[in-house]
Amino acid sequence: MEQILFKHNRPDRTVTFDEFCSAGGFSALRTALADMSPAEVQQATIDSGLRGRGGAGFPTGKKWSFVPRDLPGPRYLICNCDEMEPGTYKDRVLLEKNPYLLIEGMALASYALGVEHAFIFIRRGYELAAENLRHGIAQAQQAGLLGNSILNSGFSLKLELHLSAGRYICGEETALMNALEGIRANPRAKPPFPAIKGLWGQPTVVNNVETLANLPAIISNGPAWWKAQAATSEAAGTKLFCISGHVRVPECFELPLGMTLGEIIDGPCGGMRAGSTFKACIPGGASTPYFTQEHWPVPMDFDPVAKAGSRLGTGGIIVFDQSTCMVAATLNLTRFYARESCGWCTPCREGLPFVQHILERIEAGQGKTGDIDILREHVKLLNYAFCALAPGAMGPVDGLLRHFEYELQEHIRLGRCPLAA
Ligand SMILES: Cc1cc2nc3c(=O)[nH]c(=O)nc-3n(C[C@H](O)[C@H](O)[C@H](O)COP(=O)(O)O)c2cc1C
Repeated sequence: MEQILFKHNRPDRTVTFDEFCSAGGFSALRTALADMSPAEVQQATIDSGLRGRGGAGFPTGKKWSFVPRDLPGPRYLICNCDEMEPGTYKDRVLLEKNPYLLIEGMALASYALGVEHAFIFIRRGYELAAENLRHGIAQAQQAGLLGNSILNSGFSLKLELHLSAGRYICGEETALMNALEGIRANPRAKPPFPAIKGLWGQPTVVNNVETLANLPAIISNGPAWWKAQAATSEAAGTKLFCISGHVRVPECFELPLGMTLGEIIDGPCGGMRAGSTFKACIPGGASTPYFTQEHWPVPMDFDPVAKAGSRLGTGGIIVFDQSTCMVAATLNLTRFYARESCGWCTPCREGLPFVQHILERIEAGQGKTGDIDILREHVKLLNYAFCALAPGAMGPVDGLLRHFEYELQEHIRLGRCPLAA
């Protein structure tokens, strides 16, 4: 299996700048600045079929094409490294191992977009990753790979690291821009989309760490090669899958996009841990509806996962064994989302604590027959929230209702978890 993002990784430490450069690091940036126009870098990104790795899977090159070229004033690129979705830790692993791939990717994206000022918005607790980036930015600057007229090309880029305020909503791209501007991190109305009116009212592209870190390989090896690293002809590239829960090897793996769920669990994850049998999993970070054993043949790629009723999301897979009470697991996640609601819109601010209350009452053995209908109603109602936080928060509740309604009914009927002795 070809490693693209983890190619330079050392088992026990961060790769050094010299090691990265002597293994071909920053050669894509050299090639692009010497031999390619910004439009050609953008076209290569489109041709690769790269889709955003931050959750929504939007085609990256297409997003870039929305940025108007003729508006006066600056344009901005923001790398989203807020990563607070429970079960998702891939961007942290990537940056703890190698900050240079992201720095090179951001320089390539900035060149393609005509950006001269870019930001990395990073979760406050990611201390090693932030330290690596601070150090990496200084090294790249000293080597003439950032700053004024990079490699004498005339293209200049200032790259800044910004520590997140520390709330889940700060990862939502418009709330993120508010946070970066120093105002309260509420989401903004869309449209206008950030590509038209973003940071300080200027055209802005927000991309995830993993998305941007793929650009050097696309430019160095060509979009067709990059695309072909996937497991199926419909998928493109590799994906970081970060696994947690009841498997033998809960780690972050770089795998061909489109491997089936079963292949991932039985392969790199080493199967279920001793005494465990698979019951369910969250396939793409905590805001995605559960998958069950029937979903093992589903290719872990954006469209097949959506067709099967969930979302690939961030690629954060949380595996549950037979001993897991799905009501308790769902309540646990709902508590996180209710606490993290920014309070800006009523459906989210009032709806999530209410859903939490219903699940708590069921969990405490005081569930009522009508509770299932109330939960079902709220899966629909919370779609009317202002941003994607609340609909995402209802992902596990939706999965609970679709795949574990019997367990939920039994919980209410017995006044306790049916798995309890
Ligand atoms: C509540 C919420 C939290 C989010 N958190 C993150 C995050 O931590 N990192 C991220 O890349 N995208 C996050 N997103 C998605 C971003 O809004 C945006 O779509 C993404 O950064 C775009 O990058 P991409 O196109 O490269 O995937 C979040 C979205 C929502 C609604």
